[in-house]
Amino acid sequence: MAKTIAVTGKGGVGKTVVSALLVRLLVESGKGAVLAVDADPNLNLNTALGVEVEETVGDVREEGADRAAEIPGGMAKAEFLRLRVQQALVEADGFDLLAMGRPEGPGCYCFANSILRACVDQLSKQYAYVVMDCEAGLEHLSRRTAGDVDLLIILSDLSRRGMDTAVRVVELTKELETKVRNVRFAFTRVRDGVPEPLLAAAREAGLPEPLLIPEDPEIASLDAQGKPLVGVAAGGPVLEGVKQLLEAGLE
Ligand SMILES: Nc1ncnc2c1ncn2[C@@H]1O[C@H](COP(=O)(O)OP(=O)(O)OP(=O)(O)O)[C@@H](O)[C@H]1O
Ligand SMILES: [Mg+2]
Repeated sequence: MAKTIAVTGKGGVGKTVVSALLVRLLVESGKGAVLAVDADPNLNLNTALGVEVEETVGDVREEGADRAAEIPGGMAKAEFLRLRVQQALVEADGFDLLAMGRPEGPGCYCFANSILRACVDQLSKQYAYVVMDCEAGLEHLSRRTAGDVDLLIILSDLSRRGMDTAVRVVELTKELETKVRNVRFAFTRVRDGVPEPLLAAAREAGLPEPLLIPEDPEIASLDAQGKPLVGVAAGGPVLEGVKQLLEAGLE
């Protein structure tokens, strides 16, 4: 059974950077196959990992209705969708990547959707680790049909809005049907310490003791050059911070 790690937090706090570096560390650890899931409809995990995505699970769903007539004779629709999800999977160097794409509309419980969800859950079981770059709303987690989250990583930058989202996420975990085994929390893009009111808000919300991930000019530089952020130098401060998140959280 795969160990699932989900990365959440407000927009721009560094979820994608952290997710990409988690993938790198897990691949480097050599402890088993890694599936990276881009659960953010804006698709940016692939760029951070330096991988091209041609198709998303959302695309497979959209085409479902249009292409029903093309399903080869004798093939059940469920089987067809399973095959198409397999095709959307990108095989990269040391890991695979699946992009979820646009989510279904609220309250959409159509046939294709429930099958697609089951396909993704089924696929996840073939890996030792699944890393999910999520939206803040935990939409994707709340839709999972099976499988718990072994490690939920909540990130906040040094803004009040970042903290508000972190608090909402930790509250949401209590309502989810999906079981969350372990929660880790980090402040990201830290320059010189964290303002006391943010530390107090984190404590009050019952967030775990924060780790600090510094603002790193190397990330900014790679980003500006359009290079994959996963390529930061070994021993760099952000990579070390992500290593701590993993070590503390995935025992
Ligand atoms: N530790 C860091 N040091 C320097 N720059 C960083 C750091 N973390 C993230 N960034 C930069 O901040 C921006 C946002 O980071 P990232 O895309 O990882 O955030 P995100 O939470 O995934 O955002 P979104 O919600 O828009 O997907 C990027 O331009 C990234 O290069
Ligand atoms: Mg992102």
